[in-house]
Amino acid sequence: MKILICGKGGCGKSTIVALLAKEMARRRNKVLVIDSDESNIGLHNRLGMQKPDDFMNYFGGKKVLFEKTKEMKNKWGLDALPGDYLAGKGNIQLLSMGKIYKFGEGCACPINALSSKFLEILDLGDGEFLIADTDAGIEHFGRGVEKGVDILLVIIDPSQESILLAKKIAELGQQVDRPVYYIFNRIADQETKEFLLNSIDRNKVIAIIPENKEIFMSGLAGSEFNMDVDGIKEIADILESVREARVKATK
Ligand SMILES: Nc1ncnc2c1ncn2[C@@H]1O[C@H](COP(=O)(O)OP(=O)(O)OP(=O)(O)O)[C@@H](O)[C@H]1O
Ligand SMILES: [Mg+2]
Repeated sequence: MKILICGKGGCGKSTIVALLAKEMARRRNKVLVIDSDESNIGLHNRLGMQKPDDFMNYFGGKKVLFEKTKEMKNKWGLDALPGDYLAGKGNIQLLSMGKIYKFGEGCACPINALSSKFLEILDLGDGEFLIADTDAGIEHFGRGVEKGVDILLVIIDPSQESILLAKKIAELGQQVDRPVYYIFNRIADQETKEFLLNSIDRNKVIAIIPENKEIFMSGLAGSEFNMDVDGIKEIADILESVREARVKATK
């Protein structure tokens, strides 16, 4: 099952990617985390790993990426991924698509093109999950990155911009025919929770994660997550059920 995590800048996407990956792995699933954010560089730390070399370098670098991605057609299983470009710990592996390094080097479009194609051709078996972390906002929808995944999770922090963006992503999800679910993050009190629930389609909400001091301090230090977090187990439960439902439906 391929899951894409998206939402407004700073809403908690990477935090929830890391927590969810850890919870999935704890349940003995194999998890491939895809870092498709060309700007932020710390996701590997949150997973307790070294930063892997950029996957775009496997194809010869950013300049040739458009051409190379056009040639990628065959399905690609987890076992065939090039080890030199993977970081790993336990049941979790991390693949980082590419980053921007130099002044004036050009846009990140080729990196998004690679993400889009790779998500599409990656072939996962039973008990295998892909969790894609994305850059803030919806540029990746313009590139069609979402067509390669099964489910979109929108992280909503308590802000009007998050509410507006979540509604927009629900529309975009319909256009690409992918289910969209919401996860509230950094919810400090009942009033905030009720306000958000009254502002969006509450049937899409699958988890509500509180403002949490441990998450905050871990985020500040950029250290690996090593704690049980309210809400994450529940999300993993829901994802497992969705996956099982899909497997049954296709049998
Ligand atoms: N539930 C939470 N409680 C407290 N702090 C949180 C929580 N979730 C996230 N944070 C903190 O909020 C900050 C932003 O989180 P994170 O980097 O995961 O957001 P993001 O959406 O990935 O940001 P970007 O758009 O820059 O990629 C981090 O410092 C993180 O530790
Ligand atoms: Mg992030």
